[in-house]
Amino acid sequence: MQTDSSFTFVLFGGTGDLSMRKILPALFEAHRAGGMLADSGKIVAVARHAADRGEYLQWVNEHVKPHVSKKGLDETAWASFLERIEFVNIDLGKAEDFVHLRDAVKDLPGIRVFYLATGPSLFVPICHALASVGLNENARIVLEKPLGYDLKSSNAINDAVGEIFAEEQIYRIDHYLGKEPVQNLLALRFGNALFEPLWRREWVESIQITIAEELGVEARGDFYDNTGALRDMVQNHLLQLLSIVAMEPPHSMDSDSVRDEKLRVLRALKPIDPRDIGKVAVRGQYHSGVIRGTSVPAYATESGVRPDSTTETFVALKVEIENWRWAGVPFFLRTGKRLADRVAEIVVNFRAVPHSALGASALRAGANRLVIRLQPNETIRLYCLAKQPGEGMNLASVHLDLAFDQFFREGQMEAYQRLLLDVINGRLALFVRRDEQEAAWRWVEPILNEWKASNKPPKPYAAGTWGPAASSAMLAQHGTCWLEEEN
Ligand code: BG6
Repeated sequence: MQTDSSFTFVLFGGTGDLSMRKILPALFEAHRAGGMLADSGKIVAVARHAADRGEYLQWVNEHVKPHVSKKGLDETAWASFLERIEFVNIDLGKAEDFVHLRDAVKDLPGIRVFYLATGPSLFVPICHALASVGLNENARIVLEKPLGYDLKSSNAINDAVGEIFAEEQIYRIDHYLGKEPVQNLLALRFGNALFEPLWRREWVESIQITIAEELGVEARGDFYDNTGALRDMVQNHLLQLLSIVAMEPPHSMDSDSVRDEKLRVLRALKPIDPRDIGKVAVRGQYHSGVIRGTSVPAYATESGVRPDSTTETFVALKVEIENWRWAGVPFFLRTGKRLADRVAEIVVNFRAVPHSALGASALRAGANRLVIRLQPNETIRLYCLAKQPGEGMNLASVHLDLAFDQFFREGQMEAYQRLLLDVINGRLALFVRRDEQEAAWRWVEPILNEWKASNKPPKPYAAGTWGPAASSAMLAQHGTCWLEEEN
């Protein structure tokens, strides 16, 4: 991917965790690869915790370098990467300080990208301050999640930012959209005629989407305790995956064609009736337990978490889509911290044959199933039945495997690298449009409200398990089970 689009990438929150772990390493990888970033492109870090450029570069060397390229660091590329970095020390709370930022960038070339890797409470003040010094022209702004706490607060941010930047200038990041396998899902669905006729209610019995983590809340207890899994993972990552799985084929891959189709899915989500919440939503919180032989503490004892917290660290939902393609097909979504494994996958369970001349096993649900593993080890696996060798007609489950690392040994890109390049090059397709975000909040909010009103604590689960038993029971009511419970 050659580019000649020059840029000035202004990174607010330049010494924050996200800059350290994701943004600066991703920019370095793009730089190291060669040809992806214009030679004249500059990175301007904005932070308070360094006095000057020298001190900032020292911080980058100490904190960012350990997070770059596991393949062995290219020292020459690293040295030339540091040359791209400028630094401005300003107090984000003081609009008058932004004059220094304007002076620092005024002679730098190309499109300006303002990446707000800060808390959401700073989004609006930063945008106002940028506008006050005329920096909102010829610019793009990148907003990290969480964008708001509910529909109202997200609208308030979007309204305020929208007064300063046009929608085409606003890049709302959902890093799941930048993951290679999610891109591949689009390729699988819309590059092959094979699946399209089957991708509908007549042939699909149910769909599962899981994002399971072994990690707990790490150093983010404070943030997480005010957020919970529904806001942290479902409102954004899971609903975005769902919309890509369920969307109609777009007319083209341009940003609005794709986002229009995703929006249609989000708007067609069957609203959750508060009276049914116990049947279609499970919330859990982890207690102490053992993960891969190591004891881990209960959520309520994590630093930054209130000891009597009722914040959910696990959610399982049954979702329905009210349109012709999907009416009546349950989509089961699930996410949680401190679960038994780290895995993100989509499971499409096809219906059994209508009549079996080959015995009962051919009538078993899930005999035909497509498992799209997003992480770890990206694979797509299609399960079928085949005859067992030997006498008689006995069927056994076999699978066709597509392991991407065997086909494509080079060129894999981290989500942040792809997304940052998209911002620099003005490609909006993988960013969330305001109306999508609103539709997602609108659907999620009744669940949040009902949980709050009911005042019931989340169901406990031991760390290192797959969440509360109620999650399995919910699927059992529909005659199915989570993939790991098969056999
Ligand atoms: C983030 C959430 O958006 O996604 C985190 O805030 C979560 O809580 C993370 O751990 C998971 O992302 P990934 O790419 O590691 O699956």
